[in-house]
Amino acid sequence: MKTDKNLIILFSHSGNTEKIAEMVNEYIAAEVVNIEAVVPYPKGFQAAIEEMSRQNKGKVLPDFKKVKLDIQSYDTVFLGYPVWDSRLPPVVRSFLRENDFRGITIAPFNTHKGYGTGKSVNEIREFAEGAKVLEVLSISEGEIASALPKIKVWLEESEFI
Ligand SMILES: Cc1cc2nc3c(=O)[nH]c(=O)nc-3n(C[C@H](O)[C@H](O)[C@H](O)COP(=O)(O)O)c2cc1C
Repeated sequence: MKTDKNLIILFSHSGNTEKIAEMVNEYIAAEVVNIEAVVPYPKGFQAAIEEMSRQNKGKVLPDFKKVKLDIQSYDTVFLGYPVWDSRLPPVVRSFLRENDFRGITIAPFNTHKGYGTGKSVNEIREFAEGAKVLEVLSISEGEIASALPKIKVWLEESEFI
C-alpha cells in the first residue's frame, strides 16, 4: 500500500515515543505534528499518573493546542503515543475526536513499560470514527534502542516500504 502523503502525529510525554517516531521517519520521511495538551501533563511520573487518572475517571477530553492541519489531505496517518493505563493518553483521545479521520488509514505505534498495547487500539477505532486502523507496532522501553529492525518489518508488512 504505497501511499503518497504520509503524516506522523505524535504525543510523547517523556521522549520514548518520539525516538520511535524518528526511526519510523528514517524510512518514510513524513511531516511530524505533535499533540500538545494546553495544560501540559506534570513532568513527574506520579503526578502524571494522578492527572491521567482524574481525566480517565471523569471522561475528560482535555484541550490540545490547535495546529492548522487538514487530516483529509493525507492518505496515511502514523499515530504514535505512550500507553497510559493500558489506554490512550486522554489528550490523544481529544485529538482523534476533534479531527476528521473518516476514510483515513491509521498506522498506530506505541511505547510502554512492559504491559503492552492494552485497550489503546480499540480506543483509536472508537475515537477516530471511520478510520481504517492497521496492525499496531508496540515497543517496550527496553526494546527502544534496538527497535529499527522491528520497525522495518512492520513497515514492510503494510507495504509502506
Ligand atoms: C501516566 C502514565 C501512565 C502509564 N501507564 C502505563 C501502562 O498502563 N502500561 C505500560 O506498560 N506503561 C505505562 N506507562 C509507561 C509509558 O507508557 C512508557 O514509559 C512510555 O515509553 C513513555 O513514552 P513517552 O516517553 O513517549 O511519553 C505509563 C506512564 C505514564 C507517565
